[in-house]
Amino acid sequence: MEIYGELLENNVIVDEKPMSGLTDFNSCLKHYQQRVNRALSDLLPDSPTPKHNLTEAMRYSVIGGGGKRIRPAMVYAAGEATGVDQDMLDTPACAVEMIHAYSLIHDDLPAMDDDDLRRGQATCHVAFDEATAILTGDALQTYAFEILAASDLQIDDRRRLQMITLLASATGSEGMAGGQAIDIAAVGRSLTLEELEAMHRLKTGALIKASILLGAMCSPEVSEDDLTSLGHYADCIGLSFQIQDDILDVVGDTETLGKPSGSDEKMQKPTYPSILGLDASRKLALEQHDRALAYLETLDARANKLRQLSAYIIQREF
Ligand code: IPE
Ligand code: IPE
Ligand code: MG
Ligand code: MG
Ligand code: MG
Repeated sequence: MEIYGELLENNVIVDEKPMSGLTDFNSCLKHYQQRVNRALSDLLPDSPTPKHNLTEAMRYSVIGGGGKRIRPAMVYAAGEATGVDQDMLDTPACAVEMIHAYSLIHDDLPAMDDDDLRRGQATCHVAFDEATAILTGDALQTYAFEILAASDLQIDDRRRLQMITLLASATGSEGMAGGQAIDIAAVGRSLTLEELEAMHRLKTGALIKASILLGAMCSPEVSEDDLTSLGHYADCIGLSFQIQDDILDVVGDTETLGKPSGSDEKMQKPTYPSILGLDASRKLALEQHDRALAYLETLDARANKLRQLSAYIIQREF
């Protein structure tokens, strides 16, 4: 983490010291986490049935182990940057977290990364079984779209359809699932830097971009130019997020991460550290952070949470 401390000293994140900006962001993240946790708990089905344990597995995976809730935080922060009431943002915040939770459940399956620990607790297929884990992912994915389509949002139908379409394409073959397919096909093979970047942009970046844009799209006043800038910002933090994830897989410990460290090496995954080494990977993440901030230049102080969020992403330790 030292390198970021040094490099960030010269780097104005907000109009105050970077670290105090980060302290602010941590308390704001806590607020976003509490908010989305309440909304998730209200929304997720809660009727145990003697016939199956699907609803229990859904709650276990989404609420049980916690999770940083960084994608909901992106929805809230992008909404704040564009003047949206927080009440409007709970539904898209829950939708992106449900998609994310689904992607993690499937990512951990034996057929994929074969991991047994997630968010400090047994992975879904270990706590339940593989069939339940597959179905839990399926049910969370469709539920995300159901809440976006059916919730009582103060948003016109055309915009709502755009939001649903955006989340669908960020999740499917041109987004997260496509990136995961590249990831699986790349096991044991070497990728060029361009191929690695393309994979990361899909498997992780697409949902992060959707999270930022969904928050902003709830604003009736957001301009096309602002959406374009926010999209570019999101591309940068999406990439830096996965670079940092790859770095943490090498330097983090299992207890802090809440998931097994060294999983990428064990599975022979191409990652930034495996191709570039740790220092160059950190530099690249920092470069993406700088680029992200530059894309926010036309946005006013309401975008400060987004500025802090970008710094948080490359300095986080789990
Ligand atoms: C982990 O995401 C999976 C990636 C896309 C790298 P997070 O680091 O956001 O995981 P949680 O939600 O905090 O558990
Ligand atoms: C997974 O990337 C990205 C997803 C779409 C879930 P990783 O396989 O690196 O995520 P972790 O490290 O298991 O959380
Ligand atoms: Mg994976
Ligand atoms: Mg994994
Ligand atoms: Mg990883």
